[in-house]
Amino acid sequence: MDIEGIDVNKEIGKVGVHICEHDKKKGLLIPILHRIQEDYGYLPGEVLERLSKKLELPLAEIYSVASFYHQFHFSPRGKKIVRVCMGTACHVRGAGKVLERLQERFKIEVGETTEDLAMTLETVGCVGCCGLAPVVTVNEDVVGELGPKKLNDLIKTIEED
Ligand code: FES
Repeated sequence: MDIEGIDVNKEIGKVGVHICEHDKKKGLLIPILHRIQEDYGYLPGEVLERLSKKLELPLAEIYSVASFYHQFHFSPRGKKIVRVCMGTACHVRGAGKVLERLQERFKIEVGETTEDLAMTLETVGCVGCCGLAPVVTVNEDVVGELGPKKLNDLIKTIEED
């Protein structure tokens, strides 16, 4: 088919190839972002810029994909990721006070990281250990029945590490 001197089939063919290449690169993006985050602990801007050039994908598109997934982070994270469970059982058993104490002690808000990168403080919904409420997770570990003494021990461990 020819419209005003343009071979439409040929042009559609080109677009098809272009979409295919683009999709292939986008398909690679998630595993590459995971790898970068494993290496750096987060997704540094300058690394994403290099990635954008290498894959010939717009930087905005890379950010758009990465920010869609909650597991990607754009700033450095603490050595310990402390998540205070704010589910109902933990809430009823004093999770708010645990959170307050951690915020006061480390002078950070939820979602922030201490300057020395010792800890990132987050909240989480029920982690499935309601019988141990109040509960926090420290990286992959669950710390339950968090009374004042256990909380002080946890704070000490974070400070000393
Ligand atoms: S509500 Fe905290 S573990 Fe279930």
